Amino acid sequence: MKNQDSTLIEVKKRIAWPFTLPERKKIDTTKDFYPKRWKNYFDETIPLWVKKTYPPRGRNNTKEFTSNDFKFYLSGIIELSEHFTTDRAFSLHEKRKGYFSHKKFRASYILYLLQVHAASFFSLFELHKSYFEEKIKTKKTITILDYGCGPGTASIAFLFFLKKHYAKQKISLEFNWVDSDPKIMKDGKELIDFLKSENHSISIKTWIPEKPMNTMTTNDLIFLGNVLNESRKLNQKITKKIASEVRKNPKLLILAVEPAAKDSAQNLALFRDYLIQEQNLFILAPCLHQEACPLSNGKDWCHFSLPTFIPSALLNGIKKSLEIQNRFQRFSYFIAGSPQKNSSKKIDEWRVLSDPLSSSQNKKNKTHSLLCAPETTKRVTLSQKQKFFRGDIIICSNKSTR
Ligand SMILES: C[S@@+](CC[C@H](N)C(=O)[O-])C[C@H]1O[C@@H](n2cnc3c(N)ncnc32)[C@H](O)[C@@H]1O
Repeated sequence: MKNQDSTLIEVKKRIAWPFTLPERKKIDTTKDFYPKRWKNYFDETIPLWVKKTYPPRGRNNTKEFTSNDFKFYLSGIIELSEHFTTDRAFSLHEKRKGYFSHKKFRASYILYLLQVHAASFFSLFELHKSYFEEKIKTKKTITILDYGCGPGTASIAFLFFLKKHYAKQKISLEFNWVDSDPKIMKDGKELIDFLKSENHSISIKTWIPEKPMNTMTTNDLIFLGNVLNESRKLNQKITKKIASEVRKNPKLLILAVEPAAKDSAQNLALFRDYLIQEQNLFILAPCLHQEACPLSNGKDWCHFSLPTFIPSALLNGIKKSLEIQNRFQRFSYFIAGSPQKNSSKKIDEWRVLSDPLSSSQNKKNKTHSLLCAPETTKRVTLSQKQKFFRGDIIICSNKSTR
């Protein structure tokens, strides 16, 4: 991969990424973004369920979740969070393996990362609503494979998305959950029970990877959430499993999300390339092209961010204790599906892959940005007046960037 420099960039138009801070009013995550039930579910239902299922010794009062309970669970949350941040290095991967076999970590995940990851999924359903709406409007029964589901995080986020937009529509949902840990799936099934609604019928079948799903089952949607980063390299068993699902239903839609860390984002990029090259799938978002990802190796990686005004006192309390000040939720993702008509790359559209980066001394008053070119990335120098943010699309004069 080579980077090219160009100072000649001539931008005709900027299409702002809806979650860029200055533009955040486009999708206002402060008000009515998350459905009303969200806060109650994550701040009351879940903590009380955790307290009942994984009780602190000597405390039987399951009517309230007290500050002492918070302190009790916090130590496990801190430990888990350390595993997921500092221990991302592959040498420590083995240590992380099987964390869901410990009660402490199941409880911690459900209190903390379940909501963080559900918020990312929920936001992506909102941002790319039209792709999901097409399935919701055309199918009476939607079949969903949630692979590496954990406690059913992506499925829970999808139910909130349906609650927000399609509460009155009769929808039948058949979830197929696959995870190497049956205990966390059992927990997830109980948590889903609290989200049942009159118009949405829900069935969940659970599978471990060694016990393949019924070959007759076809899935309309596949969610893959934060599972590829559990393997050192791109997990061939997972890619083969997804490939067999694509063969059964080439019209399915895949939403894959991974943490915004270099190794996981680059693994995700390799998975993306595999789906294009070997499975003839089309990347609907966020890529503006179908070439190999220029960031599947090298020092940069592709990720996006959004301001996280998640309405949860519990989450705010946890973040404060973990000294996480960053309001931004960061992730790498793509949506893949069948090829769309008229959706080939528009020659002059580039996705901005970084917030403004300060330039070297001799280019005062200038910043630069990283663009997805495709085939390569392009580092372009901009005047300070030109403010582009990660995720924006810019349309520029083709000549000036070559
Ligand atoms: C970080 S959790 C993510 C859970 C959930 N998808 C989310 O986004 O919150 C990763 C999950 O993947 C599961 N997992 C890891 N390797 C797997 C594999 N090869 N096949 C199926 N599940 C796997 C783990 O047991 C765990 O539940």
